Amino acid sequence: MNDYLQAVKLTDKVYYVGSIDWNVRNFHGYHTGRGTSYNAFLILDEKVTLIDTVKKPFYHELMARISSVIDPAEIDYIISNHAEPDHSGCLPEVVAAVKPEKVFASVMGEKVLKAHYGEDFEVTPLKTGDTLNIGENTLSVLETRMLHWPDSMVTYLDKEKILFSQDAFGMHYVTSKLFADQNDYSIMTYEAKKYFANILMHLANQVRGAMKALGELNLDVKILAPDHGPLFRTPESIGFIQDLYAQMAAVPRGNKALIFYATMWNSTEKIAAAIADGIRSTGVEVKVASLNVADRSDIMTYVLDSGLVCVGSPTMNNQMFPAVADVLTYLKGLLRTTNKIGYAFGSFGWSGEAPKKIFAELEAMKFELPFEPQSTKFVPTDEDLKKYFEHGVALGRKLQENA
Ligand code: FEO
Repeated sequence: MNDYLQAVKLTDKVYYVGSIDWNVRNFHGYHTGRGTSYNAFLILDEKVTLIDTVKKPFYHELMARISSVIDPAEIDYIISNHAEPDHSGCLPEVVAAVKPEKVFASVMGEKVLKAHYGEDFEVTPLKTGDTLNIGENTLSVLETRMLHWPDSMVTYLDKEKILFSQDAFGMHYVTSKLFADQNDYSIMTYEAKKYFANILMHLANQVRGAMKALGELNLDVKILAPDHGPLFRTPESIGFIQDLYAQMAAVPRGNKALIFYATMWNSTEKIAAAIADGIRSTGVEVKVASLNVADRSDIMTYVLDSGLVCVGSPTMNNQMFPAVADVLTYLKGLLRTTNKIGYAFGSFGWSGEAPKKIFAELEAMKFELPFEPQSTKFVPTDEDLKKYFEHGVALGRKLQENA
């Protein structure tokens, strides 16, 4: 079965044996519009070593790609850089089929794998600085806790100069081209930002720590091989993703503006458009997103670049719209910075609580809020819209002043 599938040769000793998930569209609440890959790697040295496995439904794809190079029973070691099930989901099946001499993971990885697959699942723990000689090559390990789970670690293969970086430097983006230098940099920029904003933004401190620790190792990396998306094999593409990570991990305020809202009978939408025109008139780049069509994970990507975030909702049953509450809850989990400007607005018929509730949420997230919550009864008049335009101008200027 699947015996037509091939591994992809990366170097004389290392093969790509991962799987492609073209159609995944929901990755624990994150809209993966371009699919993803679960990358895994086979090292042919005296100790044949498999780096990571794949999501459980892709077991046969992994085994078929391995089988295109060697008999999987020849695998001696498996290294689990990250225990989240998109990388370890079929690990028990692989272990049962291959019967490796040892499975390695980080100290926390041992605990997490046992929590998933049972206390009798045997794992040999490795800690930062540990090395594993596999023949001509030696693998060395750096624990990268919370990038993306407590168990996460990266592994460096010295002679082949490959850094297997699990979630770090990855993105949910898959095409038929395996390498970043074969793909579109503008799409990769968006997808790497989306990945960071939705998976790592709240962990930016830990990302900075891991980047610093990696930098201090001064590794000569010829191939940077994350567990999702394209691999980086040229100095230009490695520099691209490393620079982008350094920028994102600094979590700058952002010089753009974002307006996201829900609308019932288009009043809140009209207000959003007036605010947007006011912001645009100052020269600030503004993104307007209706939650009737935009996904929370795209909103979060825009938040990453936005120093000004305006949130609107009609009042329904004395509450904000559920779609707005959803995004605010998600934002609260992911945003740890306190340097953005916020603005709450909306329309109402007879009670009008939504903008006040949005304001309270933004205040709790430590947004700077230059205006009180703004509400308009039923349908905004020309005079109302002029006021919102002027608020947009003031907000745009404030963003520019504090840039
Ligand atoms: Fe790709 Fe944190 O798993």
